[in-house]
Amino acid sequence: MESPIPVDLTGVAETGLWTVYHRAAEATHHDTVLPDPQAVRLVAQLDFPFRERLGPARSGVAQAIALRALAFDGAVRTFLSAHPDGTVIALGEGLETTFWRVDNGRVQWVSVDLAEPLELRTRVLPQGRRQRHIPCDISRDPDSRWMERVDTSRGVLVTAQGLLMYLHPTRVHKLIAACAETFPGGTMIFDTVSRRFSARCRAGGKGPGGYRLPPMPWGMDPDGHQTLQAAHPAITAIRDVPLPVGRGITGHVLSWASALPLLRNNRPIITSLHFRAAPSDSARR
Ligand SMILES: C[S@@+](CC[C@H](N)C(=O)[O-])C[C@H]1O[C@@H](n2cnc3c(N)ncnc32)[C@H](O)[C@@H]1O
Repeated sequence: MESPIPVDLTGVAETGLWTVYHRAAEATHHDTVLPDPQAVRLVAQLDFPFRERLGPARSGVAQAIALRALAFDGAVRTFLSAHPDGTVIALGEGLETTFWRVDNGRVQWVSVDLAEPLELRTRVLPQGRRQRHIPCDISRDPDSRWMERVDTSRGVLVTAQGLLMYLHPTRVHKLIAACAETFPGGTMIFDTVSRRFSARCRAGGKGPGGYRLPPMPWGMDPDGHQTLQAAHPAITAIRDVPLPVGRGITGHVLSWASALPLLRNNRPIITSLHFRAAPSDSARR
């Protein structure tokens, strides 16, 4: 048994512990929707009072977090089937373990996060030649700081799982615009909470399991596509990414939420944006 690793993250940086805690809980279910041995190992090894600080890991929430991760895994696999040597830029990656679930042996992987969570990631997860870490506060840094440091020559997928809700709406739109500008032909996938959930968090309401999530200034409802489109003219396609069908009643309700009257307009959404290719790329095709 490896020695425990002390962890002291707070505020928004702590939320990466909340997601890995739930993925680990789901992974231990006998009929799990997402096997995640790295998450299970991390939660066992980190010296952090998960339950006291984050509340009990409720099984419905754990499955929802795992299904979200599964949807992102699917988007990465689709990208890699078209761009096996491409670059995946995982914004706000925390202790997400997608890399080990989808690695094709060729992908270049860039993790971007605040300095402290990224330093923890370096200590507790293996890092190979094709993985890079770029510490950056996405809410403050000029956009180009991390963007200029990635290889864009073989295709780019930007993922932002569980991140954009913590940014201010103007910042989110600037980030999307900067990605559209810098990664022509690229794709970006992110998830959002509803405007109602965002307002509840701003008002200090507690999240699932009693955990007080940090404020989430940005929420989006299903009618938010028009605002996204306005972020940059190079956005050529906006698509909802369905949640894979899960286990039991909860797993089915989560996947069918977009068709259920009570949930349709008040649910998390996963969205993928495609950016227009540079003129020279289009001419080559
Ligand atoms: C809810 S966690 C999600 C972690 C991981 N993507 C997952 O799904 O397990 C949010 C992550 O975003 C990071 N984050 C929040 N605000 C950030 C910012 N301004 N700049 C960079 N990273 C940020 C946090 O440190 C944390 O790792």
